[in-house]
Amino acid sequence: MAQTERQRAGLVRTLRPRPADSPLLDLAGNDYLGLARHPEVTHGAAEAAHRWGAGATGSRLVTGSTELHALLEAELAAFCGFEAALVLSSGYAANLAAVTALTDPGTLVVSDAGNHASLIDGCRLSRGRVAVAPHADPEAVRAALTGHDGRALAVTDSVFSVDGDAAPLPELAAACRSRGAALLVDDAHGLGILGAGGRGALSAAGLAGDADVVATVTLSKSLGSQGGAVLGPARVIEHLVNTARSFIFDTGLAPAAVGGALAALRLLVREPDRAARTGRIARELHGRLTAAGLTTVRPDAAVISVRAPSPEAAVRWAADCRAAGLAVGCFRPPSVPDGISRLRLTARADLTQEQLDRAVATILATAPTG
Ligand SMILES: Cc1ncc(COP(=O)(O)O)c(C=O)c1O
Repeated sequence: MAQTERQRAGLVRTLRPRPADSPLLDLAGNDYLGLARHPEVTHGAAEAAHRWGAGATGSRLVTGSTELHALLEAELAAFCGFEAALVLSSGYAANLAAVTALTDPGTLVVSDAGNHASLIDGCRLSRGRVAVAPHADPEAVRAALTGHDGRALAVTDSVFSVDGDAAPLPELAAACRSRGAALLVDDAHGLGILGAGGRGALSAAGLAGDADVVATVTLSKSLGSQGGAVLGPARVIEHLVNTARSFIFDTGLAPAAVGGALAALRLLVREPDRAARTGRIARELHGRLTAAGLTTVRPDAAVISVRAPSPEAAVRWAADCRAAGLAVGCFRPPSVPDGISRLRLTARADLTQEQLDRAVATILATAPTG
């Protein structure tokens, strides 16, 4: 679509630089545990930059792999219950790496219709045949896998980024196993929130560390930093190191991001209650908005989706919230394949009761009428 058409359709996206001391109450970001500005995390990032440099200086396979990267990989794998981990420069790059490395031209990839764009792009880059399965439907995945002769892979988000609903992981794993397929789960929104102490959706489902399960995570949400990782059996990680183009041909993650993520991970190990607190706040937000008559999706992690009557109403609602001091996400077509416009709210472990009350009051006071 040309820029003029985008303008006519009201679909132009604009960047709004955020000042360091923004007065807005933030229910739009993904800093679920409130760690992005935690002093231990920013100190971990700053110390890593001082010690290792501002940049990684090269691809992980050349000069960009520091001892700090190896430490983060070991601690992240142990925390989430996997044999090994590989850190990449983003969750996006991790998904491209995982999907492409686990597929070849004969592979059938079955992808949930609600998957994140980075998994979709991984599917596009994979040279396998891609079948899109209806959302969160293990029987549809089983049916799609039936009769395929050769390697097969099912891919899904653990918690879907727009509506915040969780995938039925045990049933999906059973469907995959019944057809000899592997399962790849993007746990971007589960790490830090789901499972004991935030060990993630795979740990919660009892699938972490299984030989036929691979996970991806981002370090940019619950861990408040930047970067991504693939978690799985050591042989899969070794295969990625040798074949994944978004790993091989990309500069290693900056030391500051590695140090920040490592500090956040250690903090989460020490303070496991943060994970449960975020979940409680998400459920409280959902309960209060639903009780007031709004249509919301029950949150399985930290994301709460609130339905808006139209794209125009959603945009106006988000703008009115912003004018009243509250930042919320706004999703509308074509970013949402189901055509439903919604506000996207995120819970944070560090929200105070006063902030929570203010957020609820603002959303209700600005809600579209009729
Ligand atoms: C489900 C999901 N996967 C992957 C990503 C990409 O992660 P990153 O921002 O670290 O590239 C995101 C969001 O950013 C996401 O919501």
